Amino acid sequence: MTPPDYEYLRKTLKDHSGLDLSSDKQYLIESRLLPLSRKAGLSGISELVQKMKGGAADLTTQVVEAMTTNETFFFRDKVPFDHFRNSIMPEILQARSNRKSIRIWCAAGSTGQEPYSLAMCLKEMGAAIAGWRIEIIATDLSQDVLEKSRSGIYSQFEVQRGLPIQLLVKYFRQTGELWQINADIRAMIAHRQLNLLHDFSQLGVFDVIFCRNVLIYFDQDTKINIFNRLAKTTEPNGFLVLGAAETVVGLTDTFKPYPERRGLYRPNSVRATPAKSPAVAAAMPRAAAMGAL
Ligand SMILES: C[S@@+](CC[C@H](N)C(=O)[O-])C[C@H]1O[C@@H](n2cnc3c(N)ncnc32)[C@H](O)[C@@H]1O
Repeated sequence: MTPPDYEYLRKTLKDHSGLDLSSDKQYLIESRLLPLSRKAGLSGISELVQKMKGGAADLTTQVVEAMTTNETFFFRDKVPFDHFRNSIMPEILQARSNRKSIRIWCAAGSTGQEPYSLAMCLKEMGAAIAGWRIEIIATDLSQDVLEKSRSGIYSQFEVQRGLPIQLLVKYFRQTGELWQINADIRAMIAHRQLNLLHDFSQLGVFDVIFCRNVLIYFDQDTKINIFNRLAKTTEPNGFLVLGAAETVVGLTDTFKPYPERRGLYRPNSVRATPAKSPAVAAAMPRAAAMGAL
């Protein structure tokens, strides 16, 4: 790969996904894109770049997807899910007791372990949420990970990472070497492809947003831009949950840390009306069909 090839790929990745690679990540590009170029019948990365420059949009999409890091596992980091059960949900159940509806967004849900962990937390709440209408929307840039998330099918290795055995037995069915999460849990999640660099206001406003372990790949201006737009899609008394290596501190004052709850943030200011856009209901047929729990 020549230095101009590398610069072209860096810029393309930054423009398409926000991924901000430093000038010394040639090995990362080669390890992920050489297999892709071989699969496409190309001689190497230089030819791949030539095709991309020539307008091969499909190859560009594949390159962007190949360069995303999709690492995730059930109940990742544990603490955010403790906050969800013990701080977020009790407060929201009280605040929304009149309308009895909650909207939750996993903004980079990857292969589904994060949204399904939330869905299992909710199921475990049993009677406390009986009669409530709960929407969970899982979005990601990558169609491949969304497809896997929709299927709800995981390997033995994946279900052994972070998932308590009681929940595995209760909510999954084994088929050969694989495990599939039960249909009623799958039906709780509406999946949708979404690039966080683009406008997401059409999703409406959420009580809880999990946006974990994706902003770490972006530069400061991109993070600030996304935080400012996330603030507009968070209910005034809603919650933003970030990954362990992420924070709003020093970047924006649209959110403030929730005291003594690491990774948890609340919007700072009063915003315009939090009404749900009618387009959302139309765009989310599965979530809408889910109805009350
Ligand atoms: C490391 S995973 C994090 C998964 C999960 N949130 C967690 O913490 O376990 C990051 C995910 O962000 C997605 N992603 C990367 N850039 C994105 C973008 N610009 N918009 C939306 N999703 C993006 C990737 O496809 C990947 O699935």
